[in-house]
Amino acid sequence: MSFKVPHKLVFSMILLALTACVPEESGTFTAVYEEYFVECANCHAEDAPGYTSNIEKSLDFSTEDSAYSTLMGSASGLTGNQAACNGVKFVVSGDPGSSLVVAVVDEDVRQAFDLTGNPDCNVDSISDMTVKTGLTPSTAFLDSLKEWISSGAARDGGLGF
Ligand code: HEC
Repeated sequence: MSFKVPHKLVFSMILLALTACVPEESGTFTAVYEEYFVECANCHAEDAPGYTSNIEKSLDFSTEDSAYSTLMGSASGLTGNQAACNGVKFVVSGDPGSSLVVAVVDEDVRQAFDLTGNPDCNVDSISDMTVKTGLTPSTAFLDSLKEWISSGAARDGGLGF
């Protein structure tokens, strides 16, 4: 009598091996954080080396959890010209074009930024955070970020791999 491995078991083992290799699915918060937003922690975090008195003070990118929970809030502590954006939401679920966090990394969204409630929070008062990080975000990242917001900005997305 020969020993036979059940086909179902072989199949699930292959599937498991495959999913372990697949990179974070795009359009999920984990992917968005790991690919780019983790860089923002150099300044937007408690005791960060780049923390300055004029910085936006709600955001905390030190962990994926703190990044998500603070991104669900709105801007605070901005001074001077940028003060026009205090109170503006970082993420408007379903509307990447009205989300401040998109405007700081995407030139087109920044140029077109126009909120009825905060007309002065526009291209003149929104800073380019890609200059601050020193890293140009990939088009794939920007698409992923917009997709995450368009699809409801959930904490966990996709298939949960
Ligand atoms: C070198 C430090 C530094 C880094 C890195 C940095 N920021 Fe900022 N951020 C600031 C400062 C300072 C301000 C206040 C506005 C200004 O001075 O331009 C600000 C403002 C903001 C604002 C408020 C919008 C406005 O009015 O300008 C948002 C949103 C923001 N940052 C998000 C981010 C994100 C997302 C990243 C990562 C991609 C990031 N920041 C990286 C320092 C930084």
